[in-house]
Amino acid sequence: MALRKILTVGEPTLRKISRKVTAFDEKLHALLDDMAETLYDADGVGLAAPQIGILRRIVLVDTGEGLFELINPEIMETAGEQDGLEGCLSVPGEYGLVKRPNYVKLRAQDRDGNWYEVDGEGLIARAFCHEYDHLDGRLYTEIAHHMLSEEELAELHTNRSE
Ligand code: NI
Repeated sequence: MALRKILTVGEPTLRKISRKVTAFDEKLHALLDDMAETLYDADGVGLAAPQIGILRRIVLVDTGEGLFELINPEIMETAGEQDGLEGCLSVPGEYGLVKRPNYVKLRAQDRDGNWYEVDGEGLIARAFCHEYDHLDGRLYTEIAHHMLSEEELAELHTNRSE
């Protein structure tokens, strides 16, 4: 396993559309393992392949309830709405308020190519949407209705360290 470099905003790769995964082989498994290592090292809740420069439809999400490996994910159903803070490993040091569905159901393939369904509410639903957007070259900063100011960021960090 190896840590991969996370691309940050300004890199054109982050704006490109990723292609479907067609080979569920050792190479894919090695990539998934590298992505997990990179995600946990960065202390994130999600990572999409384009963030490490691989334009393939692969997303990892772990909000603390276990790791989801989502390959070729398709959003099947959404419901409700939530409005909350979002950040991104590719946009370091920033946070913004983003409206997302409160419930998301999707289907995806696992590392061996088997289709499965998964759903979630709250933070998981938010993470699914955020990571899915990366596969189509979208960053949350484009849809945030408010990006935190310097003052608001300072307050956020104070509150979090208490
Ligand atoms: Ni992100």
